[in-house]
Amino acid sequence: MKIKTMDLTRIYRIGPSKITAVNKVNLEVSKATFTAIVGPSGSGKSTLLNLIGLNDQPTSGKIFIDNTDTSLLSGRELRKTRLFRMGFVFQSFNLLPTLNALENVELPLALAGKPSKEQREEASRLLENVGLGNRLYHRPKELSIGEMQRVAIEGR
Ligand SMILES: Nc1ncnc2c1ncn2[C@@H]1O[C@H](COP(=O)(O)OP(=O)(O)OP(=O)(O)O)[C@@H](O)[C@H]1O
Ligand SMILES: [Mg+2]
Repeated sequence: MKIKTMDLTRIYRIGPSKITAVNKVNLEVSKATFTAIVGPSGSGKSTLLNLIGLNDQPTSGKIFIDNTDTSLLSGRELRKTRLFRMGFVFQSFNLLPTLNALENVELPLALAGKPSKEQREEASRLLENVGLGNRLYHRPKELSIGEMQRVAIEGR
């Protein structure tokens, strides 16, 4: 996936005050590359990633995903792009505590419309790939931090 931003800006308004968290960012990330966004706490990294992840709307500027201007997409199209084309690993993992590892990985596959038998097969294969074949039925609190992170990567 290719990502491009043009003068991307996000201003938060709290009452009368304004915080410019992202200020005219022009970024280009080509397909199949790794990019790290580095900067001090409060410099706008999470705000930028929320915008690129189509989780927030810019105050001004644009985001292109594979040359599509995302400001032209409907809410439904944005959600589909997120579900089918993007993966997120959050700092706090966002695993559902009442679901075991297998079910946490199955959930996004279910949302993407996979038949339930295939969900189970794919989820267990993905977990086996990251060395968690023997932890399928553990809930998040029964896993180590690194194991939780691996479930989150596979579960997206
Ligand atoms: N919802 C919000 N409303 C108002 N201000 C916000 C909001 N979210 C973040 N900010 C402010 O915007 C700025 C950028 O925040 P952001 O979370 O993007 O920083 P960050 O680079 O991810 O920091 P950290 O490394 O601490 O995670 C900060 O000054 C923060 O206080
Ligand atoms: Mg942050």
